[in-house]
Amino acid sequence: MQAWKDYQEKNKDRFLEELFELLRIPSVSAKSEHKKDMQQCAELVKKRLLEAGADTVEIYPTDGHPIVYGEKIIDPQKPTVLVYGHYDVQPAEPLELWKTPPFEPTIIDGKIFARGSCDDKGQFYMHVKALETLVQTNSLNNNIKFCIEGEEEIGSPHLGKFVANHKELLKADCVLISDSAMISLDTPSLDVGLRGLSYIEVEVTGPNRDLHSGVYGGAVANPITILAKMIASLHDENNHITIPGFYDDVLESTAAERELMAKAPFDEKEYKDDLGIKELWGEKGYSTNERTGVRPTLELNGIWGGYTGEGAKTVLPSKAFAKISARLVPNQKSDKIADLLIKHMEKIAPGNVTVKATLHHGGEPYLTPLDSIAYKAASKAVETTLGKVPIPVRGGGSIPICALFEKELGIKIVFMGFGLDSDNLHSPNEKFNVANFYKGIETVPYFHKYFTEMM
Ligand code: BES
Ligand code: MN
Ligand code: MN
Repeated sequence: MQAWKDYQEKNKDRFLEELFELLRIPSVSAKSEHKKDMQQCAELVKKRLLEAGADTVEIYPTDGHPIVYGEKIIDPQKPTVLVYGHYDVQPAEPLELWKTPPFEPTIIDGKIFARGSCDDKGQFYMHVKALETLVQTNSLNNNIKFCIEGEEEIGSPHLGKFVANHKELLKADCVLISDSAMISLDTPSLDVGLRGLSYIEVEVTGPNRDLHSGVYGGAVANPITILAKMIASLHDENNHITIPGFYDDVLESTAAERELMAKAPFDEKEYKDDLGIKELWGEKGYSTNERTGVRPTLELNGIWGGYTGEGAKTVLPSKAFAKISARLVPNQKSDKIADLLIKHMEKIAPGNVTVKATLHHGGEPYLTPLDSIAYKAASKAVETTLGKVPIPVRGGGSIPICALFEKELGIKIVFMGFGLDSDNLHSPNEKFNVANFYKGIETVPYFHKYFTEMM
């Protein structure tokens, strides 16, 4: 479609400048000090959706951060695509590791450095500019709805209720999400599944107060040592998770699926060099792509206790803490695994400490059927603009609302991510290639066109 290309070429600098304005708002959902920024960001998203051609846009308050809902309905009889994204971002800390300020977007070597550039402002904004392109070139032939939330990075605690209470408003034929990665523009891929999550926090208590480690050390169990041992016991020598029942519901990949996965290009040296590691790690018997895609995992997300300030303090601490999460694959259930984790940590605690384990947020895994119309349309759209049929792969991250969308709205979700695994999501120096941003804007209109034709 030459008209789309011409329009986008003419407006590309403005598209980028608009994204920058969004990136300058520190919409960190996890921190209450950013409450005003969240509201401001939601208002800017609303304004931009209206400018792009949406008929109506509403900001729905929740008990947490607001949800932005907008729509362009050309004909209720025609197919409807619901675009989901999130305007909240992860905290930028540790700030000293950023080469450029996290909320002052800076282009270096064709990459936009900023918190949220890839996850997910840069990616959902592609859809806003795709809408604008379709409207301005008079070529929109389907209905588009937008649900852009502000709490994805904290587990979408209020979106589920909103979806359940607004089924008619959100009624659509598929959900389209750009909030994940592809292998590269040269080797396009589409995520056909994301993992679920169970997240717990563990508190280990020994003596009733911090003690002098010389006076009491040797006679009283140190909660940090005990916690470290408990944690170390969670994987065996093959890096298999030792919690009884953990793998019970795991849907094993078939030989054919594994063969297909092995076809996705993977350069081990490049992967290691990028991360600055000498050796890979993981569950024995599985490739790296399998370990991050189709296998469940258990990760320590944080561990603390005792004295961590400047200098030395000889103390035998009263408490030690850890944040532990599991990535889940079909058909594991988030609640069930969280319960298993909590009970296991309590069970393996020795008698010299007490353990309290509590639940954080979670989410179910999701799988997109390859034979769904939405997947076929996404695949054809990417093939059109990138010249190659995308490879279906499984993404390692989680988007907690996916399974709920399917359950409440009865429709399939399709992922069309334009980020890269190496874009430093959740890390310092998050980035998004300018070229990927523009490719996304170019590709999305084809998705709408093909999806409408195939429906
Ligand atoms: N966009 C990511 C999820 C993602 C990343 C999917 C890369 C596929 C590839 C999302 O914003 C995210 O970070 N989700 C959290 C979920 C959590 C906070 C409930 C995650 O995966 O840790
Ligand atoms: Mn995201
Ligand atoms: Mn994220």
